[in-house]
Amino acid sequence: MSDNSKKIVGICGLGYVGYPVAMLFADAGFDVIGFDILEDRVKKLNEGENPIKGQEPGLDELVEKVFEKGNFRATSDMSEYKLADYIIVAVQTPVAEENKKPTYENLKSALKSVGENMKKGVTVIIESTIAPGTMEHVVKPVLEKESGMEAGKDFYLANCPERLMPGHLLENIRYYNRVIGGWTPESAKVVKELYKNVVQGELQETDCITAEIVKAGENTYRDVQIAFANEMALLCEAYGANVWKVREFINNCKKVTDTRPEALRQMHYPGAGVGGHCIPKDSWLLIHEVRDIVNPKLIPIARHINDFMPLHMYELFEDAVKESGKSIKDVNVLVLGYAYDANSDDDRNTPSEPLMEKLKENGVKFEVHDSFIKEYKGEIWKMLDGKDAVILMTGHDEYKALNYDDMLKQMGNRPIIIDGRNIFDKEEAREKGFVYKGIGNV
Ligand SMILES: NC(=O)c1ccc[n+]([C@@H]2O[C@H](COP(=O)([O-])OP(=O)(O)OC[C@H]3O[C@@H](n4cnc5c(N)ncnc54)[C@H](O)[C@@H]3O)[C@@H](O)[C@H]2O)c1
Repeated sequence: MSDNSKKIVGICGLGYVGYPVAMLFADAGFDVIGFDILEDRVKKLNEGENPIKGQEPGLDELVEKVFEKGNFRATSDMSEYKLADYIIVAVQTPVAEENKKPTYENLKSALKSVGENMKKGVTVIIESTIAPGTMEHVVKPVLEKESGMEAGKDFYLANCPERLMPGHLLENIRYYNRVIGGWTPESAKVVKELYKNVVQGELQETDCITAEIVKAGENTYRDVQIAFANEMALLCEAYGANVWKVREFINNCKKVTDTRPEALRQMHYPGAGVGGHCIPKDSWLLIHEVRDIVNPKLIPIARHINDFMPLHMYELFEDAVKESGKSIKDVNVLVLGYAYDANSDDDRNTPSEPLMEKLKENGVKFEVHDSFIKEYKGEIWKMLDGKDAVILMTGHDEYKALNYDDMLKQMGNRPIIIDGRNIFDKEEAREKGFVYKGIGNV
């Protein structure tokens, strides 16, 4: 392996993706310069603070180790890109609310700074998730225009999308197989050599368009699968069946003599909604450039089904209030969970937000609890006091540890549980005196 300490890796964008990637390259011996437009974040990172506050196994320890080693620093001075041998771009790539098209505001400004400053022979890698065609139609033209150089001749260029999930950041980067889409085959080879330093999974070389489709396609696959599970949940509610049992039996469809480890059917989990920066937008990224040619139907419908689930949580709540004999206006609610995923501090596109909107619209009195989100931190037992209902949106471990008897002591008469993540037991909760309704299990 080469002497990494002589090479400088620049990481553009120090969020959920860029920050752990920076830590891993620093740990592998590279000098790492992190670039971010958020000066406050840059300051804290230079003080050794880990900005990710959810449960991230190994990250605090890694940050401490890198801080002691002293080979990572953060800056907002974009002229320092000129020092880098490799530049990894990991900025956010949202879609606009009104038309679901990527705005690329951050990506374009990042590429402009990189292009203006990068040196000849540098390798530029896009880790952000992008719409297929973006490497050709946005990334390459901006870099070439700003630098006056030619991709594949004066600098290497590749798309190497991330496959990580909050809660498993380091594990996912280290052990997942990765696809590398090179603008030229040589670019893919150079990037593969670099990533071998931090990725133990297989590094598969391909072209840019394939890599772009693979990444957006993977998340779209999940979105469509989740939408199927959600629609199954709605059907089971109407049939009076339990979707969790149905799912278990579907996924057990195999021959007893079958030795293949993977299940033939792999129905996903239904739930209170899909959030995060990625899944709600990656389906739109996948179809973006060819939408008018193909007129895709399944993918947009899956998005709509998943967006409906927090509103369905409200419908379940309304039904439960009727069943409890109370009036909506008299009910005090505690929403459990604001982060979009269990034990994470990531609240981007959280399904809790449309639920809260619906509660407000209907004049329901509510509070929100989430130990991972500064605004909603609080003593859960105190917050349960006098509440008539809990609406569980996020499967944090803390909520799995709640005890029915203790909840009954705190809450009003005939309390309500609306379970968006199947963490309570319907039969037990009802036996104890709760009005229980869960997604796919009413
Ligand atoms: N979060 C995930 O789990 C995940 C997983 C796989 C892929 N991705 C993709 O990776 C990309 C980054 O996602 P994220 O979750 O890390 O986003 P993030 O918002 O957590 O981090 C992005 C960072 O980039 C910084 N930034 C924005 N413009 C900049 C500029 N011009 N120069 C320098 N820094 C700039 C922001 O200030 C921010 O700190 C997205 O395309 C996302 O779809 C994310």
